[in-house]
Amino acid sequence: MSDNSITRAELISIFIRAGILGICSYFAVKWMVNTLDPTRKQKREAQLRAERLLSRLGVKDLKTQLNEYELSIAAQLVDPQSIDVTWNDIAGLEDVIDDIKATVILPIRTPELFVRSELHQPPKGVLLHGPPGCGKTMIAKATAKEAGARFINLEVPALTDKWYGESQKLAAAVFTLALKLQPCIIFIDEIDSFLRSRETHDHEATAMMKAQFMILWDGLISAKHCQVIVMGATNRPQDVDKAILRRMPAMFQIQLPNKEKRRAIIDLVLEREDLNENVDLVTIADITEGFSGSDLKEMCRSSAMFRVKEFSTQLLNNGSAGDCDEREEFTSPDVISSLRPMNMNDFLSAIQKMKESKVSLLTGHSMIGLD
Ligand SMILES: Nc1ncnc2c1ncn2[C@@H]1O[C@H](COP(=O)(O)OP(=O)(O)OP(=O)(O)O)[C@@H](O)[C@H]1O
Ligand SMILES: [Mg+2]
Repeated sequence: MSDNSITRAELISIFIRAGILGICSYFAVKWMVNTLDPTRKQKREAQLRAERLLSRLGVKDLKTQLNEYELSIAAQLVDPQSIDVTWNDIAGLEDVIDDIKATVILPIRTPELFVRSELHQPPKGVLLHGPPGCGKTMIAKATAKEAGARFINLEVPALTDKWYGESQKLAAAVFTLALKLQPCIIFIDEIDSFLRSRETHDHEATAMMKAQFMILWDGLISAKHCQVIVMGATNRPQDVDKAILRRMPAMFQIQLPNKEKRRAIIDLVLEREDLNENVDLVTIADITEGFSGSDLKEMCRSSAMFRVKEFSTQLLNNGSAGDCDEREEFTSPDVISSLRPMNMNDFLSAIQKMKESKVSLLTGHSMIGLD
């Protein structure tokens, strides 16, 4: 054997050194990647938030059983007590609310009623659709408050992670977490923006995440007694992927309110307002055709502002705006409560203004200067 040949001991030592170097490099690179990751702080904050939320929701025992992905999804759990919308805050949608109570809430609250027949199984997907501003998000919030189930308000950007494969793990965590927390509702607002028709130019990672989402969802559908429901809301149902629509057999259309419903919404919004006796709510409901719930609320708000504007003009004309003592006098609770009641002219002017701006939006003409 020549002197240049490597002995067995030397060979082993080379392997050991190469191994140690490899391990050190692995941890060094991992440390660097973690340190340089700009989302590290957000992830940590999300996990702390999730831990606090889980404690508040009384699921302390599960905390240790959740992996890092499930913890970051758990940060999107909603505490029902922090929601300020109840069924009583929604007007004119009693029929939809009754259907939702029967389809979503009853099976969660009394599952024993639904075990006898396959046909009694609650749907695993529910879609609320209809024009903007008609109460879809309000219904979802009230459902979260009243269902007695855990509620994940899934924010899609939280699923997108720049690292390859991470988004899929997060998508999987949505379902595994929901199963661990069941009964659970996974709510995706504006679902069309996340699960829109798959297109050839979808980024590969996005396409894979969507596919994964559907596979996991199918898992829910085939699991007989699981109490996880995916609830989506959209004002563009035509843009939602057809395969997703198929997985949401319970569809609730929330349409623009008709005259009777507009009256109910106006009554609710004006419940605590002081109205002049010349205010005719029937006429107001009549002439607001095409207004959504949100338009009606805005119309009432801008009607109420006329008296405030009048009051402040009066204040300025009296020359007291710069005078500190007098300003205090004018903003005292007594003076504020003496604001005049809202009158019919306020409503008519507000409606007229809104109609004009709607027309200008539709025709693309600016209304600036028409006031
Ligand atoms: N039926 C209703 N009863 C009472 N208020 C309503 C009703 N519908 C809408 N509103 C008012 O309009 C606002 C917007 O409603 P919401 O966010 O639920 O609309 P949406 O249907 O989710 O709209 P989008 O499709 O644009 O998300 C509510 O905060 C509420 O003030
Ligand atoms: Mg909404």
